[in-house]
Amino acid sequence: MGFPLHRPRRTRQTAAWRRMVRETRLTTDAFIYPLFVVPGRGVRHPVESMPGISQLSVDEAVKEARATAAAGVPAVLIFAAPEEKDAKASAALDPKGLAAQAISAIKDACPDLVVWADVCLCGATDHGHCGHVVPGTATIDNDTSIETLAHVALNYARAGADAVAPSDMMDGRIQAIRQLLDLEGHQLTPIVSYAAKYASSFYGPFREAAESAPAFGDRRAYQMDPANVREALREVLLDVEEGADLVMVKPAGPYLDVIRQVRDAVKVPVVAYQVSGEFSLIKAAAQRGWIDERAAAFETLTGIHRAGADLIITYYAPDMARWLSE
Ligand code: PBG
Repeated sequence: MGFPLHRPRRTRQTAAWRRMVRETRLTTDAFIYPLFVVPGRGVRHPVESMPGISQLSVDEAVKEARATAAAGVPAVLIFAAPEEKDAKASAALDPKGLAAQAISAIKDACPDLVVWADVCLCGATDHGHCGHVVPGTATIDNDTSIETLAHVALNYARAGADAVAPSDMMDGRIQAIRQLLDLEGHQLTPIVSYAAKYASSFYGPFREAAESAPAFGDRRAYQMDPANVREALREVLLDVEEGADLVMVKPAGPYLDVIRQVRDAVKVPVVAYQVSGEFSLIKAAAQRGWIDERAAAFETLTGIHRAGADLIITYYAPDMARWLSE
């Protein structure tokens, strides 16, 4: 009953056929573009390990946001690398801090662009960890950290963020953030939870861009073990219960099975983050002429979308918008 009756090549013969039977389609609507904000004016400091990506002062971030919106990308994700770092993450709590300034300046300039604010302590703490350190130890204290994270989220919501995206992986932070936002009148600010965030080697280039490498130890006591998928489902279901409006799997490429299982387990939109290392691998190989960059970007992002991600955070967002419109 198989060959020669069945010939799957029949519907692959021409570009037109392939277009018609294509099961997964990427659109610019699905992309979110990360921006790295640093102090100063007129600053565009290239991130060496991420060709094409720069650290931007607020004024330059506004220009980048305008260009991103003009290209048709619906959303940006803001990361800030403030100068002042301390144990309390004061810069992230400051209504006049770098992240808050960037959020409000971008919203003023591009009211229709959706602005997500990454909520974490690692960019603002002197030790670079995502929560508070128990003095004299290398332990990150969960319950005091989530209190601070909720206040950081409130600060960004007040600055005008369209969504807050906690990336710290502390337990209970979604509930803590939801409660404080609601108490303070921000019932309509969605929470994008980095629900299944793995302790990954693919964050290396980002830590240069966000100046957030931990000064000691690593993040394995709060981020997830790359070997686990049941635990990812547990994390995601807990976050949905606590009030997450969207859930994220991060990184994306090495975790396609996780994305698929999460997509099948929840009703909220699923976001995947094609992280810095995934981007830099393609860039580095392309610069050597070892890989076709555009084809590799399309293939990796198609795979992430096919696995079940509704939305994708990617450093390729503006390029993809351009390539998709050609
Ligand atoms: C901060 C944070 C990280 C990323 C996003 N938010 C780094 C980390 O956890 O060390 C990684 C993004 C990327 O690599 O592109 N908590």
